Amino acid sequence: MSLKQFVGAVTLSSALVAPALADNHLHTSTVFSDQNKNSETRVIFVPEDQNISFSNWSSAVNNAVSRAAAIEEFTGKAAQLTSVVAPEGTQANHLLLAGVGNPAEMSRFEAEKLGAAIAAALNSESETVVFDTRLIGNPGLAAEISARAAHGIDLRNYRFDRYQSEPEARPQTTYHWLVNSPDSAEKHYQASRAIAEGVFVARDITALPGSDGYPKAIVELAQEAMKDLDIEITVVTPEQVEKMGMGLLHSVSQGSQHGSYLLAAHYKGSNDDPVALVGKGNTFDTGGYNLKTSSSSIVRMQTDKAGAGAVIGTVMALAAQKAPVNVVAVAPLSHNLISGSATLPGDVVKAGDGTLVEIVNTDAEGRLILGDGNWYANDTYQPRAIANIATLTGSKVRALGNEYGALFASDKGLRDSIIKAGETTGEKVWEMPLDAYEGIIDSSLADIRNIGSPGVQAGAAFLKHFAGDTPWVHVDMAGDAMVSSATGIHPAGPTGYGVRLLTEWVLQLD
Ligand code: BES
Ligand code: MN
Ligand code: ZN
Repeated sequence: MSLKQFVGAVTLSSALVAPALADNHLHTSTVFSDQNKNSETRVIFVPEDQNISFSNWSSAVNNAVSRAAAIEEFTGKAAQLTSVVAPEGTQANHLLLAGVGNPAEMSRFEAEKLGAAIAAALNSESETVVFDTRLIGNPGLAAEISARAAHGIDLRNYRFDRYQSEPEARPQTTYHWLVNSPDSAEKHYQASRAIAEGVFVARDITALPGSDGYPKAIVELAQEAMKDLDIEITVVTPEQVEKMGMGLLHSVSQGSQHGSYLLAAHYKGSNDDPVALVGKGNTFDTGGYNLKTSSSSIVRMQTDKAGAGAVIGTVMALAAQKAPVNVVAVAPLSHNLISGSATLPGDVVKAGDGTLVEIVNTDAEGRLILGDGNWYANDTYQPRAIANIATLTGSKVRALGNEYGALFASDKGLRDSIIKAGETTGEKVWEMPLDAYEGIIDSSLADIRNIGSPGVQAGAAFLKHFAGDTPWVHVDMAGDAMVSSATGIHPAGPTGYGVRLLTEWVLQLD
C-alpha cells in the first residue's frame, strides 16, 4: 500500500460519517411549466407512429425532423431513444426523440425507466434540458408520464460517491418539462420526490462499508435523515436490548465491539392500527464462527443491512408525502463478527418472547435479529400486519436470482396486495410455498433451531414463528440490494430495493 492510499484511508475512517449524514442527494432541479423555452438539448416524447410536428416550427423544420427520425428508424415505440442533430429553428442543438408507444397503456414503471434511460443518455453538462410532451395530446396523461419519467431521472442520478476523493461532478441540470397541466404534473412529482428521498437513504444505508456503518452509525444516519419529518424515533440501546430480553438480537453482536441496537421510526398519519415494517439491519455479515470462508461470499456483506434501509426509507417516503397511513419501521441492527465473546454454534439463546433457540449456525443471523424485531413490533405497537424484508438467504438467490424478491405470506389479502405493488413499481415478488414445511425448524435440544432445509423456507418459518398471530408477509431480498453496473433506474451500487414496493403496498392497503 502506498503512503497516499494509507493517508486516504485514515482520513476516511475518521471523517466519514459526518458528510454521509449531510448529503443532499440531487443537485438537479425539475420544473413543470406550460411555457416553451430554448435549450441546448430538447427531448421530445413521441407516441408510436405519430408525426413529429409542432405548430411553432416552420413546415421546413417539421419536415427535416421527420426525415431525420425516419432515417434513424425512429417510430416512437415504447422505450425507443434516438438522438438527432437539431435543424435550425427547433429551439435546440440536440434533439432526443423518446418513444412512448401508446401513452394510455404506458405503465408507471415504463415511464420511470424511460426517464432513467434519458438521464443516462443526456450529457450531464447540459444546463437546461427541455422536455416537450405536447405530442401526447391528453394533458392529464402527459402530466403523469412526465412526473413518472422525472422520477426515473432522479433515481438514476443518485451517486454514492463519498468514498471518492475526486468524485465525478453530479448532474446539475435543470429539467424543464413543457406540459399543458403543470400543476397536475407537479403534484404527482412531489409524491415521487418523497419516495426518491426514501430510496436514497435506503441506498446510503445499504452502501456504507461495514466498519463505518455499524449499528450506532446507522441509528445516527437515520435520525439525521428523518429529523425534519413528523416521525417519532425510538432508539433501543445495546444495554436495553439485553435488559428487555431480546437475546437473539443481542447474541448476533456479541463478538463485536459494536453492540446491537433497535431503531423504531413511527409515522402516524392515521388512526388505524399501525403496519409494522421490520427490516434486517445486520450491518456486516462475516457469518460469525460459521465464517463465510470464500471471498466471494463475504464480499459486499455490508449490504446485509439493506432491509433496514428499505423500512426506514419507506417510512420517510410516507411521512414526507403526508400519507394518511399509520406505519412503523422497526430495524434491529447487529454486527455479526467474531471474537472470544462471540456466540458459538450450538449455543441456546432466549428470545424476547421467551422462545429458546438453538443457534446451530451463526451465519443464519438475520432471522435471529428479525425474530426479536417481530416480537418488539408486536409487543410495542400491536400492529395490524407485519412485513419482514431482509437479505436473508443464499437459497433465495439460487432460486430466483435478482429479478424477484421471494414472498411468503400468512394472509391472502396481504399477499395479493404486495404482489400488485410489485407489479406497479417493478420491484416484483414471487410467492414461495410454506404450508408443507411443518417441523422445518424443530430442535431436539431447544424449542426451535435457526436453520433447516430448504433454506429459504426455513428462514421464513423462523420469522413467521415470531410474528405470532399477526397477519404477516415476508420478502427475502437477498441478491436485490446492489447492482454491479448501472441498469434502468439504478446507477451502479445500492438499489434501495423495497422502498418503492413497500411504500406502494402501504398506500394501497385498505
Ligand atoms: N446475509 C446472508 C444471506 C445472503 C447471501 C444475502 C447472499 C445476500 C447474498 C445470510 O445471513 C446468510 O448467511 N444466510 C445463510 C444461512 C445458512 C447458513 C443457513 C445462507 O443462506 O447461506
Ligand atoms: Mn449470515
Ligand atoms: Zn446475513
